[in-house]
Amino acid sequence: MILNDLIQIKEKQQAARKKIVLRCCMAAGCMSSDSKGVKERLEKAVADAGLLQEVEVRGVGCMKLCCEGPLVAADPQGALYVRVTAENAPSIVAALNGGKASAGQTDPQAPFFAQQFSIVLANSGVVDPERIESYIAADGYQALHEVLHEMTPKEVVETMVKCGLRGRGGAGFPTGLKWGTVAKSSGTRKYVICNADEGDPGAFMDRSVLESDPHSVLEGMAIAAYAVGADQGFIYVRAEYPLAISRLQVAIKQAKQMGLLGAGIFESPFNFNVDLRIGAGAFVCGEETALMASVEGKRGTPRPRPPFPAESGLFGCPTLLNNVETFANVPTIYRKGADWFAAIGTEKSKGTKVFALAGKIKNTGLLEVPMGTPLRKIVEEMGGGAPDGGAIKAVQTGGPSGGCIPAQHLDTPVDYESLGRLGSIMGSGGMIVMDDSTNMVEIARFFMEFCMDESCGKCIPCRAGTVQMHHLLNKIASRQATPRDLKKLEELCDLVRNTSLCGLGQTAPNPTLSTLRFFRNEYDALLQPDPHGPDRTGHAHKHELATK
Ligand SMILES: Cc1cc2nc3c(=O)[nH]c(=O)nc-3n(C[C@H](O)[C@H](O)[C@H](O)COP(=O)(O)O)c2cc1C
Ligand code: SF4
Repeated sequence: MILNDLIQIKEKQQAARKKIVLRCCMAAGCMSSDSKGVKERLEKAVADAGLLQEVEVRGVGCMKLCCEGPLVAADPQGALYVRVTAENAPSIVAALNGGKASAGQTDPQAPFFAQQFSIVLANSGVVDPERIESYIAADGYQALHEVLHEMTPKEVVETMVKCGLRGRGGAGFPTGLKWGTVAKSSGTRKYVICNADEGDPGAFMDRSVLESDPHSVLEGMAIAAYAVGADQGFIYVRAEYPLAISRLQVAIKQAKQMGLLGAGIFESPFNFNVDLRIGAGAFVCGEETALMASVEGKRGTPRPRPPFPAESGLFGCPTLLNNVETFANVPTIYRKGADWFAAIGTEKSKGTKVFALAGKIKNTGLLEVPMGTPLRKIVEEMGGGAPDGGAIKAVQTGGPSGGCIPAQHLDTPVDYESLGRLGSIMGSGGMIVMDDSTNMVEIARFFMEFCMDESCGKCIPCRAGTVQMHHLLNKIASRQATPRDLKKLEELCDLVRNTSLCGLGQTAPNPTLSTLRFFRNEYDALLQPDPHGPDRTGHAHKHELATK
């Protein structure tokens, strides 16, 4: 493969483009509502109407408004059909000839769509994720070519530093700094790993990116591998994501066949292969050291850092580990330039962020907005607010490691620093909206139960602490707790946060602490008076703590 081949594929795709394209969502959400059947009926109706020369029915990835799926878009008509069934699909084809579609429609100019700013999701819902030609037609693999032929690895790292991208896996670590450290680390072999474990309840951004645009992740990984000097990559993806896995398998195979993965990519000396590793779905395996242990075939438990993966990672070799969304940003950054990317977002949080909007909200689905977008704009304007006229009470960001932001802080800009100041985190992008019917103690209990179940048990503070905190939250929720119990809960939060080995335990108290910070009245309302009077020592009584 040389540049000319890439250009030829692109031109051929453009020349073959039919007058009308019916884009049918084939991501997991819509497929669970039979979008496969919808696509088949559309194809049949197009053939029956004798429109095969004019109309292309294209299977695409997520079209974002998941709650209204299956979705079908008609280009260039600009119609967006919702809740399409196999039965009413033919009427969409009839509508192309002046008939009336019996499928419902939504306004593609509504704020949910119009206010999005797509970098990561630019190809989502547009390209066919199972055809590499479709990705190439959307400028795919152009950045990899430019990087391999026009930049040194050092320059690639410098561009990443300059653009200001921060890792989208949760902590927001500067990506350029990480790439630079791996590039400088000495080792006969280096690895690149894509973290596609995505274990946060309510989060489905990474799954969607892999299902909708797998080549953007592969291209991003290849650019990263060139920058750091790696020749082998792994994508660690959970077994619960079968569609993402099969799309990745197809994408890797096609990229290899075209010489975009493998030896001598774009006729350069650069070699890079990518293999999949399927995780069993343990939340802790998303933690980088546990993930690498799992890839090595060992039990997936975290280990202390340092050494950091950048210096000693997979099989003891320097390893670059980034999140799916981090890699998916990469091709566009090199195509459009570091300055272009750095101009989007805020001073310290550059670019965009993809969120999976879920919970008590009208428009559930995926959205991508510039960093710094006010939370209110996301949930009220784009999300359409709480359904049935309810009032939004809080927004949970960051999953089990995050916190609940109350309605009075909805004007907060969504960036790493602002969310942190409110005791929450950006996390990987799960955003769960709660309305005024939500019990915040229940929310804290839910997330604590999740952490308790998912704790790997390696260190005592997390193993025993999450059980104790969950026990106390149960006691509070069932109106059997006293102020002394609440005090114990707060002490345990502090202890577990400060003494756990990995991020799971260190952040497990966050949902509890943030609900205590903003909704303490809901806890207080459930407490019973202490029969022994107030505990003046302020210390927990050992014999009152439960055991697992
Ligand atoms: C318990 C736990 C689970 C995690 N799960 C994920 C995950 O599913 N996906 C992810 O990208 N990062 C996850 N992380 C963060 C990773 O350890 C790591 O920081 C991240 O993948 C680095 O990529 P980035 O720099 O691109 O953000 C998790 C961390 C912890 C402590
Ligand atoms: S903090 Fe929890 S999940 Fe992390 S190592 Fe300790 S027991 Fe395992």
